[in-house]
Amino acid sequence: MLLTLAGAVAAAPAWERQVGMKSMADSARIIGDMFSGRRAYSQTNFRAAAESIRAHAGTRLVDDFGSGSQADSKADAEMISTSAVEFSRLARDLEIYASALSSAADRNPSELGAETRMGGALFGSPFGRKPDAARDAASMPAEHTYHLMLQTCTSCHAKFRSP
Ligand code: HEC
Repeated sequence: MLLTLAGAVAAAPAWERQVGMKSMADSARIIGDMFSGRRAYSQTNFRAAAESIRAHAGTRLVDDFGSGSQADSKADAEMISTSAVEFSRLARDLEIYASALSSAADRNPSELGAETRMGGALFGSPFGRKPDAARDAASMPAEHTYHLMLQTCTSCHAKFRSP
């Protein structure tokens, strides 16, 4: 019989989390390739990639990394535990950005239209403020959302993954 501690969510094994992360990297690459034109736009594939990232993000990501360190893991379990609020905010931002990209696919059946493009305003907030996923994700061009999503991956790795 499997016993779990009351209130504690069992963390996923390290290999499973790493497979999940690799799958997010593949999905992010598909989306990036469609923005850059290396890959032809497909509403179905763009949406599927965004949905896959969304499904790995948020609460699921937080639960997967819960409770303690594991062998073969590069996750900094101690940092995740002491900065749990920041970790879950990054996981949630990832979910919000991925969800906004999925909605962008819904609005763009056959091509990534002009309103999805950044028009040269690379990085930084288009609003001249610190990015806030919950506030901005729905109103910014999808390409910008994509870059902020990648920054979210990088920010989390910088703090919570050992090199
Ligand atoms: C909230 C934190 C967080 C976010 C957000 C996050 N990651 Fe990670 N990522 C980690 C941690 C922690 C590890 C180390 C996992 C381990 O070794 O147990 C990791 C590992 C990885 C790995 C290495 C997997 C391996 O085989 O060892 C890849 C690739 C990766 N992440 C890609 C991404 C991509 C792409 C995104 C964004 C779409 C992303 N991650 C978002 C925390 C995060």
